[in-house]
Amino acid sequence: MRSATLLEPRRFQIDALEAPAPGEGEVLLKVRGCGVCGSDMGPWKGIQGLEYPMKPGAPGHEVFGTVEALGPGVQGLRPGDPVTALTYRAYSEYDVARAADVVPLPPSLSDRVVLGEPVACAVNVSHRAGVKEGDVVVLLGTGFLSALLLQLLNRPEAPSPSRVITISRRRLSAEMAERLGVDESLSYDDDVHHRIGAVTGGQMADVVIEATGKQRPLDLGGELTRVRGRLIVAGYHQDGPRTVNMQLWNWRGIDVINAHERDPGIYKRGMEEGVRLLAAGAFDLEPLITHTFPLAEINRAFSTSEERPEGFLKSVVLPEARA
Ligand SMILES: NC(=O)c1ccc[n+]([C@@H]2O[C@H](COP(=O)([O-])OP(=O)(O)OC[C@H]3O[C@@H](n4cnc5c(N)ncnc54)[C@H](OP(=O)(O)O)[C@@H]3O)[C@@H](O)[C@H]2O)c1
Repeated sequence: MRSATLLEPRRFQIDALEAPAPGEGEVLLKVRGCGVCGSDMGPWKGIQGLEYPMKPGAPGHEVFGTVEALGPGVQGLRPGDPVTALTYRAYSEYDVARAADVVPLPPSLSDRVVLGEPVACAVNVSHRAGVKEGDVVVLLGTGFLSALLLQLLNRPEAPSPSRVITISRRRLSAEMAERLGVDESLSYDDDVHHRIGAVTGGQMADVVIEATGKQRPLDLGGELTRVRGRLIVAGYHQDGPRTVNMQLWNWRGIDVINAHERDPGIYKRGMEEGVRLLAAGAFDLEPLITHTFPLAEINRAFSTSEERPEGFLKSVVLPEARA
């Protein structure tokens, strides 16, 4: 099989390797595609504490494909089944997953791009955010995760916020938020404190979701959260320690929620719920996938995700596609 190995920051190499054999309770997946996650940018750029070369296929974890073979003891799955899964080495033609971490796809999704992992994250972040009827919600950052969160907030059966306001860096991201029906899209150059104060009678927002993983939006998140409001840290702050204005957080008594999950069971429940919602048409991934690349061009998939050119929102690597 062909597999991509991140040899050092900013350099994948494609190698021909033996396909792994699934062990007890595992399945071999034929990878149809793997999304490039915001959190993959740390290993790509080089962050402290990582060892290079990384394992072949790492850090690819937004996988979808079909079951190729079953290891001993696996029941309830068959070769050929379309699935998404939790795996960590999916920049490759094949990857192995625990059968317990595999979510089958219904026939209606079998030839679609189903990035189960980020969908699971969005579902779980939305649960942790706990938006209630009538809340004023501010979303800092309008990347792929926020696009999913906005679609989840928009579902008719979800509690209706009284106002959803996004704060975006690029104009394109603001336009995407507007297409997804936000009440107001602001930029970091606007007087966002004044604006959020004006629409909340000076109270500030009930729920603020920080979805960038950067210091300044984290600072702003605290500043825009009302007394006893909720600051949801969905961004992954992987490039070093952060400082926070604890005096402000204390004074306002805000609840700060780290909306990150590590329990595979919770991840899987989020993925199952996300797949059900996708199959029901409650939200849609495909318009958000702006760039696809064959495995041979994985370096370009990553450099494009880093540069975020005009029109970019999300890269997906497709091992079967031709260069
Ligand atoms: N909690 C979870 O379970 C979970 C799951 C997935 C991802 N994440 C994390 O959530 C964050 C967003 O993920 P994503 O998939 O949406 O990534 P993404 O598509 O790459 O979006 C990143 C967002 O951050 C904004 N941004 C980047 N640098 C910024 C800066 N210096 N100042 C202000 N805004 C900045 C980008 O603005 P532009 O669009 O204008 O460039 C974009 O809106 C990342 O930190 C990611 O690791 C967390």
